[in-house]
Amino acid sequence: MAELSSRLHLLGIEGMSRKDILPYLDLAENYVLLSRSRSSPREALRGRTVVNLFFEDSTRTRTSFELAGKRLGADVINMTVATSSVNKGETLLDTAATLNAMRCDLLVVRHGQSGAPALLAQKVDAHVVNAGDGMHEHPTQALLDALTIKRHLNRLNGLTVAICGDVGHSRVARSNIHLLTAMGSQIRLVGPPTLVPSVMEELGNVMVIHDMDEGVRGADIVMMLRMQKERMESGLVPSMREYFRFYGLDRRRLRLAKENALVMHPGPMNRGVEIASDVADSAQSVIQEQVEMGVAIRMAVLDHLARSEHTP
Ligand code: ASP
Ligand code: CP
Repeated sequence: MAELSSRLHLLGIEGMSRKDILPYLDLAENYVLLSRSRSSPREALRGRTVVNLFFEDSTRTRTSFELAGKRLGADVINMTVATSSVNKGETLLDTAATLNAMRCDLLVVRHGQSGAPALLAQKVDAHVVNAGDGMHEHPTQALLDALTIKRHLNRLNGLTVAICGDVGHSRVARSNIHLLTAMGSQIRLVGPPTLVPSVMEELGNVMVIHDMDEGVRGADIVMMLRMQKERMESGLVPSMREYFRFYGLDRRRLRLAKENALVMHPGPMNRGVEIASDVADSAQSVIQEQVEMGVAIRMAVLDHLARSEHTP
């Protein structure tokens, strides 16, 4: 098992090097095998408490953090914000202080405000994991995407990755840009100027392309993104039908990418808006595998953070 560098929280991929990233992927590889053989090490987090604190909707991330914690033997609490005292006006920081007083060990936070997990990390004793903060980052998504790619293509360098759709509002895109450029791959950001403004080239090492055919041509990976309507002012796209016509991934467009290019999507998908149903379900799609890798990555993250206490 790889040695992981000591890091008390996982708040974002930005600033992480190849050396910081690879050990998570190696550790998660073990957890894929152990999960498949139903022999996860339940002693790893025995006696620890993981709290899932989600202020935004989630299916995959929250469930997989719960499964990950349970497979490692932790007690896992899912706080349902909709029925919590947040509705009585309690602030984010007071909510966190309350959980802290109950001696939670690992706090997994999703919040609509960029930077909310980082703020909590300064206030609580628990290890904080960012499960998605506003338009900022979704680090475990980028790690699970990288694990999926590595298992299929055996490398993370020298690849051409087209990240397509509503890049501007996407924390998934940001975390993937940081991770894949750190690993030495080429990123194309593809979408209409309203969703992929040219200034995004300032993120460094990325190319902005407004024509979808050109964007996917020759790509090793086509990563589609949902339109983040919850973060969008109206009028950024004419209509969903028009959007699909110009920017949706259908069979014809997929044929422009490399033969056997991987089709990815973080989920949830809007079929017929950014991706055709038959493409989402095709042999080139690794979307369900991304979900499986999500559990393994989250096991690796929880395990690493808990272990870091014992690393000098
Ligand atoms: N589930 C991902 C996120 O929370 C992507 C999405 O919602 O479109 O960022
Ligand atoms: N990919 C992702 O984060 O999915 P959820 O929003 O369902 O957690």
